[in-house]
Amino acid sequence: METISPHGGTLINRMAAEEEREDWLKRAKELPGWKVSPVTLSDLECIATGVFSPLNGFLKEEDYLSVRDRMRLADGTVWPLPITLPVPEDRASEIREGKPVALRGEDGRIYAVLEVESLYRIDPRKEAREVFRTEDENHPGVNRLYRSSPLRAGGPIRVLNRPDHGVFSRFILDPADTRRRFRERGWRRIVGFQTRNPIHRAHEYIQKAALETVDGLFLNPLIGETKSDDIPADLRMKSYQVILDHYYQRDRVLFAAFPAAMRYAGPREAVFHALARKNYGCTHFIVGRDHAGVGDYYGTYDAQRIFDEFRSEELGIIPLFFEHSFYCRRCDGMASYKTCPHGEEHHVILSGTKVRAMLKEGIMPPPEFSRPEVVRVLIEGLKGSR
Ligand code: ADX
Repeated sequence: METISPHGGTLINRMAAEEEREDWLKRAKELPGWKVSPVTLSDLECIATGVFSPLNGFLKEEDYLSVRDRMRLADGTVWPLPITLPVPEDRASEIREGKPVALRGEDGRIYAVLEVESLYRIDPRKEAREVFRTEDENHPGVNRLYRSSPLRAGGPIRVLNRPDHGVFSRFILDPADTRRRFRERGWRRIVGFQTRNPIHRAHEYIQKAALETVDGLFLNPLIGETKSDDIPADLRMKSYQVILDHYYQRDRVLFAAFPAAMRYAGPREAVFHALARKNYGCTHFIVGRDHAGVGDYYGTYDAQRIFDEFRSEELGIIPLFFEHSFYCRRCDGMASYKTCPHGEEHHVILSGTKVRAMLKEGIMPPPEFSRPEVVRVLIEGLKGSR
């Protein structure tokens, strides 16, 4: 049984093979280079393991401009987010097109080598407008963009060491692994779910509603960098572990961590999240309310509308759209604005900010909002945090 084709047709593998790795590590010690951010480190891993197929490295200028302005690589393949490598200004003089550089982590370890094929400057404001739909530096993605060097290096990478994910290591499955598991389980239709939050009842509702129509559910919480006031990744992962034990049919779910960083680019990031899950082997992808959004920067369903800008065959993964969902006391169950005829006064809806405040105070949100098992994990985990 075949799994769905990766985006662009080939699953990229840029992990150095064992026989070349030692040589590269020796060479890399002599190469110019610099320490990269945790976001770049996670980009390196995602490129190397095929999560970002068809990218085989960081975007070169021609692809960058094309992605920024038309959400496609220069060859026309749909690609909505610029995955680029910032170069510190004080390293500019050491770097030449056609020459490799060594990329180290903040720990000083060499993680990868990049063949520099393109060295260019970006216009951060233009990128902010196009990608994030705002130039406001209070937007966390825009803020990160403005703080990074506008000098960028593009070209193919080779990863020599993988980042250590500590307690999350056992939840890391590469696209080659998930594809194998899907095949072993005989799943043909698989729905992927992205999240950067602990699970609540609306998440559970849309996941299970989607699962009713396909063979398997791929739960894939993000563990890469998020903004500082998002609930930490370990609590997000723990919330899933308790709920899987109590409320899910385990042989219909594959649970794995998504090592990418959040960008908070709303609509464009929804397409990006869908393509990454296609690379993991999913045929369908859930997009609910304000997917990958932050604050009021995006309309509630903008991240669904953006999919209309592409033909279904060029995306190759089917988005499943969900309306804002909630518990309705009159319906006596989970519902959405699409299915529930009752007034707002019957709906249990709490904002993320409100819930975080309650949890920090040790107040349990109602069971109609969040399962008590999850709430207990969160209250315990947030004790002492501010
Ligand atoms: S995201 O940044 O990863 O999108 P979050 O973890 O909150 O944030 O959302 C995960 C997915 O669930 C997204 O597709 C989002 O649109 C969807 N979602 C979250 N809450 C709701 C809700 N109440 N109703 C419908 N969809 C929702």
